[in-house]
Amino acid sequence: MRTKLIAGNWKMNASKPMVRELVAGILAQLDADRDAEVMVLPPSPYLSLVHSLTESTPVLMGGQDLSAHESGAYTGEVAGSMLADCGCSYVLVGHSERRSLHGEGDELVAAKFVAAQASGLQPILCVGETLEEREAGQTEAVVSRQIQAVIDQAGIAAFARALVAYEPVWAIGTGQTATPDQAQVVHAAIRGQLAAGSATIGGRVRILYGGSVKADNATELFACEDIDGGLIGGASLTAESFMAIYRAA
Ligand code: 13P
Repeated sequence: MRTKLIAGNWKMNASKPMVRELVAGILAQLDADRDAEVMVLPPSPYLSLVHSLTESTPVLMGGQDLSAHESGAYTGEVAGSMLADCGCSYVLVGHSERRSLHGEGDELVAAKFVAAQASGLQPILCVGETLEEREAGQTEAVVSRQIQAVIDQAGIAAFARALVAYEPVWAIGTGQTATPDQAQVVHAAIRGQLAAGSATIGGRVRILYGGSVKADNATELFACEDIDGGLIGGASLTAESFMAIYRAA
């Protein structure tokens, strides 16, 4: 049984008043009887504030990115150990905005995955195809290549302490969600690829769906066999829309 996870990727959106209001709203709507976890992924400067507001609550916290390096002369970068020090237990690696806007390739993403685990963080490995790749019938090949790069560097056993997020690039921030069938096919392929290396790990790894998830499409998506929750962007910025998705899980 894989516990559903609803994770809010705030991207580059925050201010102190907004963080206080959003976290208070999330905490007020948490339901101890509901078997789903909630995570927030704030921009780095707000991690300590969010940690202070959530540390004695069930709300989990992660970073949005980390450096592949441990420490040193890397101006502007944030190390996994720093995220852990500020209260994170998770971190996104390979989000499509990092891949496309910051030129992160499969090898760097895999190095970040390894660096995250070396700092005691659980990486959430983001994968997904562009519209062009989907239309060319390459969806599964692209996603499989992105996953394989991490298996090659980190080993299959590393996925016992990691999550995967399938985020079709064409669905991110566009209002165009993958249909439950489209998403389920890719989720099953990801699980199958991991299960080929280890049946136990394939069966246990949580695979989130991301890309224009809203309360009104979440129920159908989360009902799919291999979809274990959501990675939410725009709809995670107000407690009302985020927690409506949580209730859908
Ligand atoms: P949207 O929910 O805004 O489409 O963003 C998805 C995403 O990129 C989450 O990481």
